[in-house]
Amino acid sequence: MSTERPPASAPDSPAKRLDEMNRRALEGGGEERIARQHNAGKMTARERIDAFLDEGSFVETDRLVVHQCSDFGMEQKKILGDGVVTGHGTVHGRRVFVFAHDFTVFGGSLSSAFANKVAKIMDLALKVGAPIIGLNDSGGARIQEGVVSLAGYAEIFLRNTLASGVVPQISAIMGPCAGGAVYSPALTDFIFMVKNTSYMFITGPDVIKTVTHEEVTKEELGGASAHARRSGVAHFTSEDDQDCLESIRELLGYLPSNNQEDPPARPCADPEDREDSALDSLVPADPQKPYDIVQLIERVADLDSFLQVQADFAANIVIGFARFAGRPVGIVANQPMVLAGCLDIDASIKAARFVRFCDCFHLPVVTFVDVPGFLPGTEQEYGGIIQHGAKLLYAFCEATVPKVTVITRKAYGGAYDVMSSKHIRGDISYAFPTAEIAVMGPDGAVNIVYRKEIEQSSDPEATKNRFVEEYREKFANPYKAAELGFIDEVIAPRTSRSRICQALAMLRNKRDVNPPRKHGNLPL
Ligand code: HXC
Repeated sequence: MSTERPPASAPDSPAKRLDEMNRRALEGGGEERIARQHNAGKMTARERIDAFLDEGSFVETDRLVVHQCSDFGMEQKKILGDGVVTGHGTVHGRRVFVFAHDFTVFGGSLSSAFANKVAKIMDLALKVGAPIIGLNDSGGARIQEGVVSLAGYAEIFLRNTLASGVVPQISAIMGPCAGGAVYSPALTDFIFMVKNTSYMFITGPDVIKTVTHEEVTKEELGGASAHARRSGVAHFTSEDDQDCLESIRELLGYLPSNNQEDPPARPCADPEDREDSALDSLVPADPQKPYDIVQLIERVADLDSFLQVQADFAANIVIGFARFAGRPVGIVANQPMVLAGCLDIDASIKAARFVRFCDCFHLPVVTFVDVPGFLPGTEQEYGGIIQHGAKLLYAFCEATVPKVTVITRKAYGGAYDVMSSKHIRGDISYAFPTAEIAVMGPDGAVNIVYRKEIEQSSDPEATKNRFVEEYREKFANPYKAAELGFIDEVIAPRTSRSRICQALAMLRNKRDVNPPRKHGNLPL
């Protein structure tokens, strides 16, 4: 179907004229393009909004807006709404603002009028303090509008930045998202990608081939898997549009509407004092043996409440949302199953951004620590682990939300300090009896401190083992730290849930502030 529209015939009455306008607006780019969208396995913009919001709650804004471009014969091609559907509605009864690119209209490309529509609902969302959800499916800047379109993007980037930390911003990538257009999603808090139908990149495969002679497909370069596993740009991946929209609804269930509100509590059937004897043996006695920290989180938090974020990226650290006694929290936990739970560049950046999100939106942070240290190696050092590791340190130091820490096993060296220790304003620190809190692990320590004795001994192996045992007895346990008050209590693992619930209840009215300043200088 052509995008060219015949001049509107003389209306019989104002009401008829309005009906006709509405009918045309709902048509978007026409049946043929809608069919193409469906054949590609994608919903239309309006179908997405309907599937996302509570039934019947959508209130559309700017339905009759058209572009003002007169180049390239565009004055003959005006489609009501101009490629983006905007408005507000509710999710679980709470107000949200939403825009959905309409790929059936000029490929969802962004014109000045389109940008104004998006900017308008972003401004409204900020005024009323409600989350902004963008459903992206677009060929990028509208080529016919040139620099005017680039200006439109910049207006949106500015609003994304000003809204950051004020209202939650969530982006779903449900089709192409190329060029500078990726920067609006990148400025938001969470990115969802739909498998097989969405991709994000700054420069596409053709440009890459011309410039670097690399051959790569769109999917390999910027598909959901590439961004969930390799770049870490995507926080969640979904099987299809419906799955994606349901997942965003689920995520919103953990978030307050704005930075003045508390996160939404819900009734909890799981007893706060539920003990779990399986936890007493979850952490293996052998410090070299791994275990799955996700199991521990799931056993301790409210039943079925754990929602992992960036599960496939930097899996040596686990982040996500959970509830304790019905109240949402952020979880940060070293994962001994991957790289023995070491902190590296990717893990530090992943967790730092998450902690900062939690701090923006009053989500207490519960941290589970089992970290042998920062990952050694030239790749990490040359890659800037000093600077990137400092991001996580900075994020925990700066956070003023309630912070509860549980050391399950290793808490060695700088990583002990970093992982929400008491010294950087951790509020309550617990340790399991299996905790090892020291400057470094026994092997490394005795090799340095007793090198001469070991070398000069008639049986170096036996001598070393003796020193390792001595060190373990003296330092590789939680009791020195407990003596000094660096942890508040050594707890039986089975009681973890009740202890965390207790601590969070006690901290509910916590008030802490940072010194007045324009903003800090996070080691970016
Ligand atoms: C105007 C566009 C368009 C664009 C697509 N269309 N992209 N119109 N401006 N940027 C139109 C097409 O003309 C077509 O119109 C319809 O949308 C569908 O496009 P197709 O190519 O038929 O669809 P498909 O084969 O699925 O390919 C989709 C696509 C491709 C991969 C997105 O259209 C494409 O490569 N478009 C250009 C992408 C791009 O380079 N954009 C600029 C990026 S730079 P009809 O009438 O036939 O339906 C950028 C700068 C932002 O965005 C800067 C911010 C700082």
